[in-house]
Amino acid sequence: MEDLTISSHRPPQTIIGEAPAFLEMLEHVSHAAPLSKPVLVVGERGTGKELIASRLHFLSERWESRLVKVNCAALTESILESELFGHEAGAFTGASKTHVGHFERADGGTLVLDELATISLRMQEKILRVIEYGEIQRVGGSETLNVNVRIVGSTNANLRAEAAGGRFREDLLDRLAFDVITIPPLRERTEDIMPLAYAFGINMASELKRPLFPGFAPRASSSLLKHDWPGNVRELKNAIERSVYRSPDPEQPVAEIAFDPFDSPYTPPAEDATAAGKGLSRRRQPLLPTDLTARVEELETGLLNAAMERARYNQRVAADLLNLSYDQLRGKLRKYDISRSKPG
Ligand SMILES: Nc1ncnc2c1ncn2[C@@H]1O[C@H](COP(=O)(O)OP(=O)(O)O)[C@@H](O)[C@H]1O
Ligand SMILES: [Mg+2]
Repeated sequence: MEDLTISSHRPPQTIIGEAPAFLEMLEHVSHAAPLSKPVLVVGERGTGKELIASRLHFLSERWESRLVKVNCAALTESILESELFGHEAGAFTGASKTHVGHFERADGGTLVLDELATISLRMQEKILRVIEYGEIQRVGGSETLNVNVRIVGSTNANLRAEAAGGRFREDLLDRLAFDVITIPPLRERTEDIMPLAYAFGINMASELKRPLFPGFAPRASSSLLKHDWPGNVRELKNAIERSVYRSPDPEQPVAEIAFDPFDSPYTPPAEDATAAGKGLSRRRQPLLPTDLTARVEELETGLLNAAMERARYNQRVAADLLNLSYDQLRGKLRKYDISRSKPG
């Protein structure tokens, strides 16, 4: 679990990367850092948004003041509100003492609102007011306090689309998007894979108290370069640490990359697979927009094939399994050109 809030004067973490797209992004960071205007850091999960948000702080004149990070997705609306704005004693049940919020704590420094897309419209409005007027009120308080805080928002969502769908305020987006830094995903900067892999390998070897890190065997390197890295640098870091730790001989180069810790022949099937068989998905919200006709056809062919297989290609039995008449089943098999006998 990540820290919910971090406030630090710690020196920035080393950032690794030399791909042209990555260097260009770092250049953009250096350019945006000195201003006090809000910045939005956008990137897929695990691309290093927090690292970049910290860099914006440490490259600014605010570097000696506080850097405060809040993970907006981890807090309910009312907790987030009193965490950000603070509250007066007696503001609500359990508020026994005055609580100084992050906006006040970050005065003169930087406040990172991590996973910003998840906050409610009401909180968005309150944050907009801070950006516009530099003023806050503690929850339950009447005094207006002035704060000088630079806001850095980070998100893996498409905020334009969120705004178009009415889930994110256009006016806040306009303000936050004074400058937008987009971190390229790892698959678009393959030059960075091996330098990152070596850095994570060396750290892991030292964590395991091994005297050296023997590197990667050619087969391992090539599988690292071929992987798609949907979880980006975080996924790479985990895969490398796991592979170094599992490597049987600490003196031999790592030969096997453990991409998936769950990889086992005994993994239970996903719940979605059984739910889809009933024509329902219990947990997932549907991904929209979609093509309804194509999705229905996909579901129909899947169920028809499954029923035919279960019925050992006896069409009457298959029709029963799907609660269809024999003729209805035959019509559908024809429509989708589904094999009426055992394949092969
Ligand atoms: N360029 C980089 N160099 C070194 N470490 C990185 C780099 N990018 C990401 N990381 C590491 O990858 C992990 C995920 O980064 P993080 O900033 O938390 O991603 P995000 O917030 O985009 O999901 C962290 O452990 C971070 O230190
Ligand atoms: Mg993050």
